[in-house]
Amino acid sequence: MEARTGTADVSLRRIARLFAGQRPRLAVVTVLIMTSSVLGMASPFLLREIIDRALPRQDLTLLIWLVAGMVGVAALTATLGLVQTWISTTVGQRVMHKLRVDTFAHLNRQSVAFFTRTRSGEVQSRITNDIGGVQGVVTSTATSITSNLTTAIASAVAMVALSWQLSLVSLVVLPPALYLSRRVARLRKEITAQRQRELADLTVTIEEGLSISGAQLSKTMGAGAAMVDRFAASSRRLIDLQLRSQLAGRWRMASMNIIFAAIPAAIYLSAGLPPTAGTLSIGTLVAFTALQSGLFRPMMGLLGVGVSLTSSLALFARIFEYLDLPVDIDDPAEPVDLPRPVRGHLRFEKVTFTYADSKIPAVDGITLDVPPGTSLALVGETGSGKSTVAALITRLYDPTAGRITIDGVDLRDLRLNDLAGVVGLVSQDTYLLHTSVRENLRYARPDATDEQIEQAARAAQIHDLIAGLPDGYDTVTGSRGHRFSGGEKQRIAIARTLLRDPRILVLDEATSALDSSTERAVQRAFDELARGRTTVMIAHRLSTVRDADQIVVVGRGRILERGTHDTLVANGGRYAALSA
Ligand SMILES: Nc1ncnc2c1ncn2[C@@H]1O[C@H](COP(=O)(O)OP(=O)(O)OP(=O)(O)O)[C@@H](O)[C@H]1O
Ligand SMILES: [Mg+2]
Repeated sequence: MEARTGTADVSLRRIARLFAGQRPRLAVVTVLIMTSSVLGMASPFLLREIIDRALPRQDLTLLIWLVAGMVGVAALTATLGLVQTWISTTVGQRVMHKLRVDTFAHLNRQSVAFFTRTRSGEVQSRITNDIGGVQGVVTSTATSITSNLTTAIASAVAMVALSWQLSLVSLVVLPPALYLSRRVARLRKEITAQRQRELADLTVTIEEGLSISGAQLSKTMGAGAAMVDRFAASSRRLIDLQLRSQLAGRWRMASMNIIFAAIPAAIYLSAGLPPTAGTLSIGTLVAFTALQSGLFRPMMGLLGVGVSLTSSLALFARIFEYLDLPVDIDDPAEPVDLPRPVRGHLRFEKVTFTYADSKIPAVDGITLDVPPGTSLALVGETGSGKSTVAALITRLYDPTAGRITIDGVDLRDLRLNDLAGVVGLVSQDTYLLHTSVRENLRYARPDATDEQIEQAARAAQIHDLIAGLPDGYDTVTGSRGHRFSGGEKQRIAIARTLLRDPRILVLDEATSALDSSTERAVQRAFDELARGRTTVMIAHRLSTVRDADQIVVVGRGRILERGTHDTLVANGGRYAALSA
């Protein structure tokens, strides 16, 4: 899915809401900042007293007091600043943490349809690059606004108190400064949006080129060099964007510095102009010049905050877009409990399902009845919709029409966790986590003892193989389980499902041909797993199918034939042709 930005609500109010739980801390920070800004204002007045009174009168006692006061004010504001940094960093980090976890949790609830249409790497990029990118804004914006605003206001008040005429003179620089930073902000926002898209592309290339499957593909296709080129091109575009983003800021700084450097000059000039000449003491003049930097530096700061806030809106848009995604497969508002004990009676009633980006249904008006404890075998050519049936039973998708029930309850009325407890799926391509075999098995049932884990592995015909490895159950499976062969991985997956002990079992057999001894092992594992459970078996090997209580032949999502092995062979239809 391409990054669409700007669709989400990214108002400043929404960003402010992120700080809702942090109000007490923010209040403390505000008080600290205000105190230290006001304290800081004392220095220029002390300075004026030094120049206008203590020095000319050579009053040493007064001078020492005034100088000590200046040092004391500095020490006090520094200490307050330290405490304030500590609290505000805590606030920022907590907001970041919540944003990260909320996004992760929300995406975690998305249905597989979301993950199918999203490029792998895109999600990683948004969680790390985009959320990481707003970190600076989140941690510094609030404090930066408060501290700059109070300093600016306090300075302004003090400036007016010293000389309102000079204050007016200093104001001339404001309009060009405002104009410049508005332009920079808009420019940076655009560049930021582009940069984050580019970063996501980079992450996708890393994911596609440097994951085990991607690396295999690029090596066997001799596409390594092309991959490096793609990465290099992406990285180069990033340099350009980064440069532009930085320069947009630097130009503003440079122009502003020139403008602000002109203020003291203007002050001295106007102090010497006929109307004002002689009315201001030297002390006032020096104090005023010291103060004006206390007004304009925070103003620059505020403009800077405005710029980074505006450009961070581009990042927030990308994050909020994910946070606003509706959850299409979710727990029902009023969940129904399965009647206990769960019998495992599975029914399909005229179930039709069409994938979102497809026109023809993958499953088309299928009706099935699998009584508790019986087995159903689904056979049919590739692409006929068998795996889709499996996905529907586990509610990875919801039917477009019709309904699926377990013990009479529509799957959509069950809590997702309850459903997961009742239905177990061994899918066509086994996914193992990059951790030990033991942890992979325990993923299915966190409270399983080592004995239970071994028992499951024995039943899945994989215990001897695992036990024979140098590290035994502590052997790390490698990325996606690449350390193991297809048949071994599948048996580990069977052991994993056995540990969950589901009433209804869905086995989507791998299409890859297994050698005959592995095949027998997998078959025994399947049989062990199926014993006493309601089983839907998607099988490619007739040996598996033969003993099923019912056999259903599908083609293009429809049921073509159904019966037992003997009746179907006797009928002389498709099944007979397949098994011939
Ligand atoms: N996520 C998807 N989005 C769109 N179409 C899909 C998706 N997954 C599968 N399809 C299509 O739905 C049809 C049924 O696919 P399905 O995976 O159920 O076939 P299958 O019977 O399991 O095949 P095989 O025996 O090769 O595993 C196919 O035409 C396939 O292209
Ligand atoms: Mg399939």
